[in-house]
Amino acid sequence: MIIVLDFGGQYNQLIARRVRECNVYCEVHPYSIGLDKIRSMNPKGIIFTGGPNSVYGDDSPRCEKELFELGIPILGICYGSQLMAYMLGGKVETAPVSEYGKTEVEVDRDSVLFGDVSAQTVCWMSHTDYIASAPDKFRVTAHTAACPVAGMECREQKLYAVQFHPEVMHTQEGMKMLSNFVYKVCGCSGDWRMGSFVEDTIKSLREKIGGGKVLCALSGGVDSSVAAVLLSKAIGRQLTCVFVDHGLLRKNEGDEVEAVFGPNGPYELNFVRVNAQERYYKKLKGVTEPERKRKIIGEEFIRVFEEEARKIGAVDYLVQGTIYPDVIESGLGESAVIKSHHNVGGLPSVVDFKEIIEPLRLLFKDEVRKAGLELGIPEYLVYRQPFPGPGLGIRIIGEVTEEKVRIVQDADAIYREEIANAGLDKGLGQYFAALTNMRSVGVMGDERTYDYAVALRAVNTSDFMTADVAEFPWDVLRTTASRIVNEVKGVNRVMYDLTSKPPGTIEFE
Ligand code: XMP
Repeated sequence: MIIVLDFGGQYNQLIARRVRECNVYCEVHPYSIGLDKIRSMNPKGIIFTGGPNSVYGDDSPRCEKELFELGIPILGICYGSQLMAYMLGGKVETAPVSEYGKTEVEVDRDSVLFGDVSAQTVCWMSHTDYIASAPDKFRVTAHTAACPVAGMECREQKLYAVQFHPEVMHTQEGMKMLSNFVYKVCGCSGDWRMGSFVEDTIKSLREKIGGGKVLCALSGGVDSSVAAVLLSKAIGRQLTCVFVDHGLLRKNEGDEVEAVFGPNGPYELNFVRVNAQERYYKKLKGVTEPERKRKIIGEEFIRVFEEEARKIGAVDYLVQGTIYPDVIESGLGESAVIKSHHNVGGLPSVVDFKEIIEPLRLLFKDEVRKAGLELGIPEYLVYRQPFPGPGLGIRIIGEVTEEKVRIVQDADAIYREEIANAGLDKGLGQYFAALTNMRSVGVMGDERTYDYAVALRAVNTSDFMTADVAEFPWDVLRTTASRIVNEVKGVNRVMYDLTSKPPGTIEFE
């Protein structure tokens, strides 16, 4: 295992993902984790992340000095490299010239880190301080025009440092450098595979749960689906999955989830589908304010689940689909507060259970998908795009009615079909149809119409915090628009949303 020690850098998760891409297991921990804990984990290597501080600031995060003496290989990145230099007697100063972005770096190929890297290579820099001189016993292994120590190493102590960010894709040969560190310096064998994660997890879940009863809220999204299948493989019918169909799902989605997890599907588990459509429509009648709608949908979910949980009675474990980014964002590692899954927030308080189980707690989203495929979950479920907990409720502007749900479901199904036909589905971050609250005049045949306008949205995004409008082929948009007005009753106009995020949000409400 490799440990990433987080000093507040924005790429801490990315470093861990890159290491895992080398098939080496990796965890992110706070820089303050302590020597004993590190020793007990017995890592083959440690990577220090970047961070926003200056090493000579009073409150700047530091590790214990003994860490450098444990004989465990360390790679310092950006702030991590400056910290290594500073704590071992080198000099760190404000750089006369800050470097940001793509920068040409000259590397010494005698360094094991750079053995197969081009002598001149492009890397990604982002720093205002720099290492002015390396500590004694260290050798400078890379430099740029403005940075005299862009890389340094002390081979005997297995200490390595780079000022740039090998983990970001703009560092063109960064993956080579990271794999050189994990394989050649740390001696990792690269045999960590998703298959072994799946097998090991099923085995340890079985041991932990014994004859206990487990309850899972299944949304049909990838995280809860993969968690449910892992548990089903581990304990079969000791697992009950409750799936609430709130009538705000995409077209046929409720039946699709039932086909996979229900009694006719391939998995052994108790599946409870609650058809709560009518309840939701009633609660949402006359409500137009977006936050109010969200609140009603969320609260009703809790109520429905509570009723089901009461029927089931006390359980030993409640499953949550928490994944690694949630764990990292909510305070890191062991000390992490349990963060409720978006779609099941608030559940713990209404279920009588002893302990929460989070089988995906250590996986990134793409790894959850790999585990899903490994478990034989259908691809359309595994690659499902994100779908918000409040569902179509926040894609129908204004009051939600059964009729409007039907319109947006049909329009969205056509849009998704056309996108899939054009082979664009895997390349887009998120795409959907929404129903505007606007009606306008049109003409169909020789008749005047006065119908709704559907808005199509498609965005590309890496983190859903910001998003760009997707530019996709005009003919796909035109075919989609013409199919929607022809096939979906109640629609006479189709628009494409050109707003990025910010200033827009991805969803309409
Ligand atoms: P916005 O609209 O805030 O959406 O730009 C960002 C991402 O979050 C999803 N989203 C939600 N997911 N519960 C969820 O589970 C919610 O209440 C919710 N609201 C927005 C949205 O689909 C997009 O991927």
